[in-house]
Amino acid sequence: MDKDFISIKNLTEKDIEEIFLLTDRLKKDPFRFKNILSGKTIVLIFQKPSNRTRVSFEVAIFQLGGNSIYLGKEEIKLGVRESIKDVAKTLSRYVEGIVLRTFSHNTILEMAKYAAIPVINGLSDFSHPCQVLADLYTIREKFKRLKGIKLAYVGDGNNVCHSLLYGCPKVGIDISIATPLDYTPDKTVVKDALLLSKKKDSSVKLFNIASEAVENADIIYTDVWTSMGKEKEAKIRKKIFKKFQVNSKLLKLSKKNCLVMHCLPAHRGEEITDEVIDGPNSIVFDQAENRLHVQKAILIKLLKPNFKII
Ligand code: CP
Ligand code: NVA
Repeated sequence: MDKDFISIKNLTEKDIEEIFLLTDRLKKDPFRFKNILSGKTIVLIFQKPSNRTRVSFEVAIFQLGGNSIYLGKEEIKLGVRESIKDVAKTLSRYVEGIVLRTFSHNTILEMAKYAAIPVINGLSDFSHPCQVLADLYTIREKFKRLKGIKLAYVGDGNNVCHSLLYGCPKVGIDISIATPLDYTPDKTVVKDALLLSKKKDSSVKLFNIASEAVENADIIYTDVWTSMGKEKEAKIRKKIFKKFQVNSKLLKLSKKNCLVMHCLPAHRGEEITDEVIDGPNSIVFDQAENRLHVQKAILIKLLKPNFKII
């Protein structure tokens, strides 16, 4: 694995399999490696709010015997009080890792470039790899396989959608995406996903009508219509995305027993109805739980690169 975890694009299928095998162990026995990060400190720099990412990383670090320091947007003032480069170089003298949640993806790339220690992407406007790695693990748990599963993503072509586009074809999942015309995912990400899908004998399809994407789907995945940082567009987005709601009518058009995924937080009544998110097909809290287990494996892989599962 690279020094940093910034994108699923940079992981090999073997890396993913190794992370998942380690995750299996950690999930079964959460304190199995309770001293592995002993003496190590990881800083969490969050320029946006968070529930799952912050708490799951802090708990993960604690359960592995390490120490975490949370720095919110008022504390470090990245790029304002001090350049990203100087923050990266300073922190590299004190701590062993950085988890960064920010707006511009370039901030993460720059931090990784100047930090001598691993940098983990805790979400940027462009991608959310920790989320999607945990999602792939959740799918593997539910179906006992990844290859040949059909996932339909309905909603905004956003950060989560981009990471799904990098992750799904890599493990052989067929992905169909339905977005409004002006909210399609980034073209270069789609191009990369298509190339990958050819190599892995999987498929990547784009639609502008939700019902077309969910046909025959094993999983329907959705995310908020208005991501963090785009709050000013919320009103107009609510109108534009109206036909992209995951509700029981849409669910009926997919496979029987189709599972429903959402990275959370959910805007209930917008992209997903209460009935669906609280219904028997929803696995949203399994996804949330698996953030903890998968991130523990990521931390071990990055901070203890010579660690081998016995
Ligand atoms: N899914 C996710 O990353 O949640 P938070 O924004 O609460 O961290
Ligand atoms: N797309 C959402 C994901 C939140 C976890 C956002 O960026 O706000």
